[in-house]
Amino acid sequence: MSQDSHKQEAARAALDHILPDLTSRSILGIGTGSTVNFFIEALAKEKDQFEGAVASSEATAERLKQHGIPVYELNAVEPPRFYIDGADEANKRLELIKGGGGALTREKILAAASETFLCIVDETKEVDILGAFPLPVEVIPMARSYVGRELVRLGGDPEYRSGFVTDNGNIILDVHHLDLSRPIKAEEAINQITGVVTNGLFARRPADKLFVATSQGVRTVN
Ligand code: 5RP
Repeated sequence: MSQDSHKQEAARAALDHILPDLTSRSILGIGTGSTVNFFIEALAKEKDQFEGAVASSEATAERLKQHGIPVYELNAVEPPRFYIDGADEANKRLELIKGGGGALTREKILAAASETFLCIVDETKEVDILGAFPLPVEVIPMARSYVGRELVRLGGDPEYRSGFVTDNGNIILDVHHLDLSRPIKAEEAINQITGVVTNGLFARRPADKLFVATSQGVRTVN
């Protein structure tokens, strides 16, 4: 079975999980990426079951609107009942690396603000130790060189994501070779660097439930 079919299955499993809980007042937080795009496609068929969504990126907002799903500002609604998003890596403690699509800051805000964070992945994203995937760090543009030097001091090897500007008008440094064996400590240390908006480690606020699509079906991890 292809990776896309797995992504689709993980998305379907998360949707089946939330449907019994939804009311006409429910707000959903929606992440960014190809796995979430499968989720949005399935969610659109159930759009009468909930009030609307808050998007973690302009791309997701656009896609939701195209499917006729009302999109709200986070400040205008009650806390989302569920936040559904993919990940670039996930460990057994449901700590994640996210931000491959560059939407990490809004994703982290939605994960923090929502009642329950459901993460949907295919089995290629499961790892024992985070960090083979370079860690995305969103940085205020004028701080790029300074933050880069500080990341080197932490043992990393930052690479400027050329030609990419986040929805917040910032740049991304993708950091290779960091020691992420203690994810909470690493997340906090990187966020302490002046000029960093946030980094793609989701360890202080990990997922609450992981849906992993495998060749044997979808496994859930709590
Ligand atoms: C975007 C993300 C995505 O969730 C992550 O990159 C996974 O994407 P995909 O579902 O396309 O594999 O964090 O910023």
